[in-house]
Amino acid sequence: MNKKSVVLGVGGYLPKRIITNKELSKMVDTSDEWIVQRSGIHERHIAAEGELTSDLAVSAAKIALKSASLDASDIDLIIVATATPDLTFPSTASLVQNKLGITQGFAFDIAAVCSGFVFALATADSYLKSGMAKRALVIGAETFSNIIDWSDRATCVLFGDGAGALILEAQSEEKAGDRGVLCSSLRTDGSHWDKLYVDGGVSSTKTVGHLKMQGREVFKYAVGMISDVVDDVFEKTGLSSDDLDWFVPHQANKRIIDGVGKKLKLPPQKVVVTVDKHANTSAASVPLALSVAFEDGRIKKGDLVMLEAMGGGFTWGASLIRW
Ligand code: UT7
Repeated sequence: MNKKSVVLGVGGYLPKRIITNKELSKMVDTSDEWIVQRSGIHERHIAAEGELTSDLAVSAAKIALKSASLDASDIDLIIVATATPDLTFPSTASLVQNKLGITQGFAFDIAAVCSGFVFALATADSYLKSGMAKRALVIGAETFSNIIDWSDRATCVLFGDGAGALILEAQSEEKAGDRGVLCSSLRTDGSHWDKLYVDGGVSSTKTVGHLKMQGREVFKYAVGMISDVVDDVFEKTGLSSDDLDWFVPHQANKRIIDGVGKKLKLPPQKVVVTVDKHANTSAASVPLALSVAFEDGRIKKGDLVMLEAMGGGFTWGASLIRW
């Protein structure tokens, strides 16, 4: 019997502390005007001292479980996409599983940086379709504030902390109808690794390191790479941007979002934008944007939703969901 992965719930969590552009302009040589004009960002949330990536993930997961009317015990697969794990090991997913009081099933992390949530969603979809799990909790959670060089104005103004979670259930095609994850397209090209990376790690420097980015270079590739995977999904499903109800892009830069929207000929009102308030939360950005658009009533059951992301690796991917 063929199965589909159907969305049951979504949730997002942002740490309480907000840092505005004005506050940042007291820390480094920047201005609200430069940040808004170049990125569309006005503010970002930053985790408190001792507030871990797994804590943000658990808060988002609890909201997603509530929206799905499920208990933690109903989950048998947890995938956490993160580039800022609590520990080198075990996985942040193991820690999230423990904090949620779950002992059944299996849990692991995915490292695809800003594309991590799309990679995790596609992975969960494969496990659910294969019958290896019944209900998956797919999380993107980050505390990039821990790997930012707060004296580097080129990067410190762009990122924030947060978490988002989605719950998927394996359903028979008969029960799912036209709902479910319809198609995903994932790509990596490691030849671009040094355009966006962290200059530390267990086997190299034995330190955590700081984020390094050639922003202009990343920008140069972003729109083309994102459009390619979105077009691939359209080609494989026979659908087009005219069919979309919502486009939920990775929230790195408003200019990239606008560029992709224009290339896909999408009306701006169909594009979910949270970068102004969240900044770039890496793997958390897409599920956080989904949670915002779901909670304010924009995304409804039956809507056709395209997700996309691009980031370090380079990695990039897109996923089409009938909500
Ligand atoms: O999620 C992962 C993917 N990451 C991205 O998608 C990020 C992609 N890149 C970007 O979003 C943009 O390239 C940035 C927002 C990072 C930068 O915008 P840009 O228009 O590409 O600016 P730039 O890097 O070319 O810098 C322009 C100028 C430079 O000065 P000069 O060389 O022209 O004198 C920078 O030194 O702006 C300067 N600058 C700043 N000025 C004020 C760089 N950062 C700042 C700052 N405040 N924070």
